[in-house]
Amino acid sequence: MPTERYAHIIGWGMALPERVLTNDDLARMVDTTDEWIASRTGIRERRVAGPKETTGSMAIEAAQAALDNADIEPEDIDLIIVATSTPENIFPSTACLIQDALGAVNAGGFDLSAACSGFVYALSTGANAVLSGAAKTVLVVGAETMSRVVNWKDRGTCILFGDGAGAFILQGSETPGGVLSSILRADGSGGSSLEIPAGGSRLPASIDTVRDNLHSIRMDGKEVYRFATRVMASVTQEVVQTAGLQLSDIALIVPHQANKRIIESAARSLGLPEEKFFMNLDRYGNTSAASIPIAVCEAVGQGRIRPNDNIVVVGFGGGLTWGATVIKWDVTEKPEFSRWHYLGRRTRYVLAGLRSIARRGLRRVESLLPASRAAAEGGEEPPYRKQN
Ligand code: UT7
Repeated sequence: MPTERYAHIIGWGMALPERVLTNDDLARMVDTTDEWIASRTGIRERRVAGPKETTGSMAIEAAQAALDNADIEPEDIDLIIVATSTPENIFPSTACLIQDALGAVNAGGFDLSAACSGFVYALSTGANAVLSGAAKTVLVVGAETMSRVVNWKDRGTCILFGDGAGAFILQGSETPGGVLSSILRADGSGGSSLEIPAGGSRLPASIDTVRDNLHSIRMDGKEVYRFATRVMASVTQEVVQTAGLQLSDIALIVPHQANKRIIESAARSLGLPEEKFFMNLDRYGNTSAASIPIAVCEAVGQGRIRPNDNIVVVGFGGGLTWGATVIKWDVTEKPEFSRWHYLGRRTRYVLAGLRSIARRGLRRVESLLPASRAAAEGGEEPPYRKQN
């Protein structure tokens, strides 16, 4: 397989639930005020998933928007990476759900768990898959339904989070640009400062874990705040140096959208004006792994990121994890929007749904055939039956 030397972002898309939850709405649920939330975090409202919306449904919508934007077909995707802390299930992965819904029949897929740094981790992993020649086209998604893991009685955390999804399409190219450098870091000693204590193998779901609210986010806000302000500036500086650039070469920094004060503090440490940082947390809150791709989509839409701009995306969060990536934005030609290709893809999604139903049916029929039953039992009595 030929190895391309550059991994470009050739498409991007986002999806948000319609339902808006304002700070005033929250003030009717817990002991807080719009003034407190806005002044301590910069957040004014966030989006919250409706009963039929899930991490998977938003991820699929964002992925479809990214495919339209890149004007490529689902069959072109070789790999799907989904950064999420709120997957549909522990397994199967949300990536497999997306693969099935898109009809991405040539793709492998997996979920990646790095909390709010997840998208930076996924982008770096996807770019490395392209650069190694393992994949030509990679779909990278950050998607979260934080509203399902928030303790709505804890005013220290429930005011922060929101739901949404964003997606990029990465593709190999010989044209210089794209993902220029990445740095990924972790410090597991700080794991307990931001966690969902139960639901894994250490503390499986039980009546006690549900009663004690251990399936929702627990956070030492001050500790995470200190960590975030420390790492954001340093990893930004380091990743820019690794790319062989200077801070003055960077057109825009798109940080994880956790808290306006954290971003202001990083701006001060880096000696950069706040205008160099893109922020939309006032409208969406902290959407964890989805916050960076959503912010990038909006920054492009507002003309804050233009072709040939160098940008930095920088994230931090549970783990503790942090990371940053330098991107030379979209140096490849954008195809004209084709209505026919758009409609063709919509037809493909309907066919993918039918294909999925047919494959499930086929599996059921196969399992009933005598030959396949014998094969499943190895052609002889199962050992547990022999013992009796
Ligand atoms: O993706 C990473 C995710 N996590 C983060 O980014 C979180 C980082 N940390 C933060 O953003 C901030 O620590 C918070 C916004 C969570 C909290 O802000 P703070 O300035 O660190 O407040 P605090 O925890 O020190 O609390 C100050 C006071 C306390 O009252 P007392 O003890 O001074 O009487 C809290 O009980 O504010 C109280 N408080 C609230 N009051 C009104 C805490 N939450 C609220 C609230 N409304 N929602």
